[in-house]
Amino acid sequence: MEKKERINAAILKILRSQEGYVSGERLSRFFSISRAAVHKRIVSLREAGYELESVTKKGYRFLSYPDVVHAALLLSGVETSYIGKEILSFEELDSTNSYAKKVASECSEGTVVIADAQTKGRGRRGRDFHSAKGEGIFCSVILKPAISPGRAVFMTAIAAAAVSVTLSDLGADTRIKWPNDILLNGKKIAGILTEMSGDIERVDHVIVGIGLNVGNPVFPDELMATASSLKMEGYDFSRQEIFWKLIRNLEEMYEDYLGGDRQRILEILRTRSAVIGKEVFIYTEQEKKSAFVLDIAEDGSLLADIEGEGRKKLNFGEISIREKV
Ligand code: BTN
Repeated sequence: MEKKERINAAILKILRSQEGYVSGERLSRFFSISRAAVHKRIVSLREAGYELESVTKKGYRFLSYPDVVHAALLLSGVETSYIGKEILSFEELDSTNSYAKKVASECSEGTVVIADAQTKGRGRRGRDFHSAKGEGIFCSVILKPAISPGRAVFMTAIAAAAVSVTLSDLGADTRIKWPNDILLNGKKIAGILTEMSGDIERVDHVIVGIGLNVGNPVFPDELMATASSLKMEGYDFSRQEIFWKLIRNLEEMYEDYLGGDRQRILEILRTRSAVIGKEVFIYTEQEKKSAFVLDIAEDGSLLADIEGEGRKKLNFGEISIREKV
């Protein structure tokens, strides 16, 4: 991020944290730049859609921000230690996960790549993730945990728990369809795609991609039966508020995990599970199995009673809930 953008982010942070006015002189002293340079930054923010009032002899006052996913705005509301402290924002990308993968080795842990639209948003199993401009949160978090690849599956669990808790805190009661879907009123409103790079012993980095449908008024016909958005379900949350809370929950849970404490995350996964206690079909690469879901195991895998096979733990797969006839 260039210096001007950093100053914009810091100005926004200061103005947003104050009830009243902040003088141009104070800002100029704080950033060690001239008052004219402060004014230039304010003008550039206004041009980007921020409403910043200025009153002679009083200074500047924050009124509102536009519905954008600019790094400067997002940085101004992040309250974490490292996740989201570096943000790379784009109007459009093919896929934030693909971009994050390319830059991960040069980025610090916790860097977030976010785009207002994706032209090739990716889901699990080679599917597309519908990513229309301005309607969702499409972001990828670069994490560098010192763990073996086998434990990286738990990153999806952490992200699913963080998304679910964030939305519930805001008032939308969501369920987690193991391993990576978040449901609201039975429909998918968010998905997680975790990808990693490393060798057999150690993970180099993990990209946790989160796609959340916020303002979509409608979906393509083929998705209408299964997908929904917060707006379609009657919730009017701002993308920025969701992002700030999500990043905070994600960091808290990731820190718990690194510190060896999985209990809170597991409790969230279990109490909010859409599949525990349900008859389901489990699809793996090769087959479709009927099963009854018993629990989420300590390592984040699914514990199920599989027809003809008995109790088993599954690390991956896709689930569809069998409707009772
Ligand atoms: C799924 O539903 O199977 C997972 C969807 C994950 C979508 C997100 S959007 C941000 C990130 N970039 C991608 O290309 N995919 C993930």
